[in-house]
Amino acid sequence: MDFPTTITTLFFFILLISSTKATDLCASKSDGSGLSVIPIYSKCSPFMQPQPDSSLANTVLKMASKDPDRLKYLSTLLAKKATPVPIAPGQQVLGVGNYLVRVKLGTPGQVMLMVLDTSNDAAWAPCSGCTGCSSTTFFPTNSTTYGPLDCSTAQCTQAHGLSCPATGTAAACLFNQSYGGDSSLSANLVQDSITLGNDVVPNFAFGCINSISGGSIPPQGLLGLGRGSLSLLSQTGSLYSGVFSYCLPSFKSFFFSGSLKLGPVGQPKTIKTTPLLKNPRRPSLYYVNLTGISVGRVPVPIAPELLAFDPNTGAGTIIDSGTVITRFVQPIYNAVRDEFRKQVTGPFSSLGAFDTCFAATSEASAPVITLHFTGLDLKLPVENSLIHSSSGSLACLAMAAAPNNVNSVLNVIANLQQQNLRILFDVANSRLGIARELCN
Ligand SMILES: *[C@@H]1O[C@H](CO)[C@@H](O)[C@H](O)[C@H]1NC(C)=O
Ligand SMILES: *[C@@H]1O[C@H](CO)[C@@H](O)[C@H](O)[C@H]1NC(C)=O
Ligand SMILES: *[C@@H]1O[C@H](CO)[C@@H](O)[C@H](O)[C@H]1NC(C)=O
Repeated sequence: MDFPTTITTLFFFILLISSTKATDLCASKSDGSGLSVIPIYSKCSPFMQPQPDSSLANTVLKMASKDPDRLKYLSTLLAKKATPVPIAPGQQVLGVGNYLVRVKLGTPGQVMLMVLDTSNDAAWAPCSGCTGCSSTTFFPTNSTTYGPLDCSTAQCTQAHGLSCPATGTAAACLFNQSYGGDSSLSANLVQDSITLGNDVVPNFAFGCINSISGGSIPPQGLLGLGRGSLSLLSQTGSLYSGVFSYCLPSFKSFFFSGSLKLGPVGQPKTIKTTPLLKNPRRPSLYYVNLTGISVGRVPVPIAPELLAFDPNTGAGTIIDSGTVITRFVQPIYNAVRDEFRKQVTGPFSSLGAFDTCFAATSEASAPVITLHFTGLDLKLPVENSLIHSSSGSLACLAMAAAPNNVNSVLNVIANLQQQNLRILFDVANSRLGIARELCN
C-alpha cells in the first residue's frame, strides 16, 4: 500500500473505532492515569479558532512563530553563570503551549485545560479575581482543600524569584515573573488537590495567578512536567515513581487526542531507550545524547563538538514538548538540509520558517531522516519530517536552524517530530524511551 492510501485507511479505521465507542470525543480518557492530550487548535480545545481555509502548514507556521521566543529564552538562561541554587521554575519563561491536558483543581474538582510543558517545573493557574486573565479561572473559595503557602514553607524556599520580604516570615509566598518576552504574571504559591485522571494528588503546590499583562500566558494555566524540585514528578514522589509518558497526536488530528500516562503502570514493556543527561544548571530540562543524524543512508558530516553535551554552556540536545519544529544549531541544520536537497529533486523554495520546499510530486524520493541517540535510533516517520503547503502542491522539510537572533548552542527536538510516538520519561532510571504509536 502506498503512503497516502495507508494514511487514509488508517484515518477511516480510527474514525470508525472512535464513532462506535465514544459519544463525547473530547471527554477525558478514564483508563487509570491516562489523560487526554489535545492539540491547542483542535476541535476539543476551547482555544480553537475556526479558520476553514487554514491549512495545516499555516497552523504550524503560526504556532512555530513563537519558537524563536522560546529558544531565546532557553538559551538566555543557559548562558547564565552557575549559581549554588537551581534556577527557579518560577522564573522560567516560555512561548506558547501547543498541547493541553484536562485536570481538576480543588475539591470538588474544577476543570482546567492546562498547557503541557516538559521544560518547565512549576504549575500555575489563573485564579478568581485575576486581572487580565480569561474568563475561566480557578475559584479557591469554592475548594475545601485549598490552602495558601507562606514564605517559610519548604515549597516556597524551593522556588526562587519570589518576592518574600525575608526568610522565615509568615508573608504570602508571592512571585512575579516575566513570560514569553512580552508578558508577565504575578501569583501566590498555594496548595490544593489536583486530579489527574483517576488520581488525586493532595497538597499540590502551584501558582495562583493574580494578574497578568501581555498576551502569552496560557489561558487556563500550565502543567510543568520538568524534572526539577517543584515539578509534578517531584511533588508526587512514590505515586508516579518518577515516570511518565505521552503520545502527542498530529496537529492534523482535529477530533482525536493523544495521551499522557503518569506512573510506571501501563507503560510499554519493551522500548528502546537512551540515557537522560542531567544539567545541574538547568535541572528542568530533558537532555539526551544526540550522536549523529542520517539522511537516507548517508550519515551527515557533523563536527562532534556541535553535538556534545556541555553543562557549562548548556550545549547539547533536549526533548521539548513546547517547541513546534525541531531546531538545530545552524551548521548542523545546514548540513542536514544540504544532504536532504542532494537526494530530492528541486527546485527548492521557502515557506515561512521552512527553507526546503519542493514539488510534492517528488515526495516519494524524500529520504528518511534518522536521529541517532546513544543506544537508540529514531527513524522519523515521513509525516514527522515533511509538511505540506495549503494547496498540497509543496512538501517542506519541517525543521529549521535556531533563529538568527539567538546565539544558541542548544538543539531542540520539538513536538512536530514527536507526534505519533510514545515518549517515555523514566526519570527514576535516568532514561528516555521512544516507540512508534499511532495516537491520532
Ligand atoms: C463558586 O461558587 C460560587 C458561589 O457559590 C458560584 O457562583 C460559582 O459558580 C462557583 N464557581 C466554580 C468554578 O465552581
Ligand atoms: C511585576 O513587577 C514589576 C516590577 O516590580 C511590575 O512593573 C509589574 O507590573 C508586575 N507584574 C504584574 C503582572 O504584577
Ligand atoms: C555521547 O555519545 C558520544 C558518542 O558515543 C560519546 O563520546 C559521549 O561521551 C556521549 N556523551 C555523554 C554525555 O554521554
